[in-house]
Amino acid sequence: MADSPHILVTEPIPQKVISFLENFGTLTVAQKGTYDTEEALIKDIPDYDALLCMLSTPVSKKVLEAGKKLKIVANFAVGYDNIDVEAAHQLGIKVANTPDVLTDACGDYAMALLLALSRKFKEADEYLRNGNFTGWEPLGFLGMELRGRTLGIIGMGRIGQAFAQRAQAFGMKIIYHNRSRVEQAIEKNLNATFIPEVRELVEQCDVLSLNCPLTDQTHHLIDENMLELLPEHALLINISRGAVIDEAALANALHSQKIAGAALDVFENEPEVHPKLLTAPNTLLLPHIASATHKTREAIGMLAAKAIAGVLEGKPDSEIPNLISP
Ligand code: GLV
Repeated sequence: MADSPHILVTEPIPQKVISFLENFGTLTVAQKGTYDTEEALIKDIPDYDALLCMLSTPVSKKVLEAGKKLKIVANFAVGYDNIDVEAAHQLGIKVANTPDVLTDACGDYAMALLLALSRKFKEADEYLRNGNFTGWEPLGFLGMELRGRTLGIIGMGRIGQAFAQRAQAFGMKIIYHNRSRVEQAIEKNLNATFIPEVRELVEQCDVLSLNCPLTDQTHHLIDENMLELLPEHALLINISRGAVIDEAALANALHSQKIAGAALDVFENEPEVHPKLLTAPNTLLLPHIASATHKTREAIGMLAAKAIAGVLEGKPDSEIPNLISP
């Protein structure tokens, strides 16, 4: 096995994935947090032919340059803003992500957040646990009913569409913004209306959902000005990336009740959470778990691992569907 490829997995992942990868090289599975810094990666990456990393692993240009033997970086995630893809491609290193396999888990999760938020589950649960429940009340915990309300989705990719499909079943009207308009058949199926201007979409939303990738264009897209455009009863849901929102501006909008609530699964500086969000009213804060089901996390791992196996076996790119194209 001395000459077999060396594969670094930056955190413990499902056993099925580990067993599969063991057929393709010598595996090192690091403990959580070991490779959350560039320095740690730069030090160890020269030993490895393949890297299976997390969305928290900073795969910068410097890391990639240090990976003299590195042939592939496979992200255990669909979003890959943690990887300098351009630098990887310039260095001849392939990059893979994990589309499709997490779409349903994330669509379900976005719907769960919307239901929990619109019906005030968190406050009501706390109220009961704190001993305040003294009997049924006609005016307690009145929330927003979804039928007839407008859901605005920014980012109508697979996950945005999965959420739209679920929300449509609850009688919501769907409007969306996307880099490019989606196929007419999809719009028709979801009864979704394309809004070319983000500002126009935001003004019309009862619920705003962020489902776009983090790019230079979407960084702090939802800032103080955008938040001002939302109606006071609006709810905000983010399962994309934290940095799509200016968190300080959002915390202010929540505290001053310029919007009615938010459900946030992602944060700009994970695992840190902006301190003012921790005390914001009607705000659900969750530890980045949109894809966290047994089935999906195993499927994510297998898809990333198969890209590694394909590259190490010398398969052509056309046979590895989840490689990100240059
Ligand atoms: C999770 O956030 C992912 O990008 O898969």
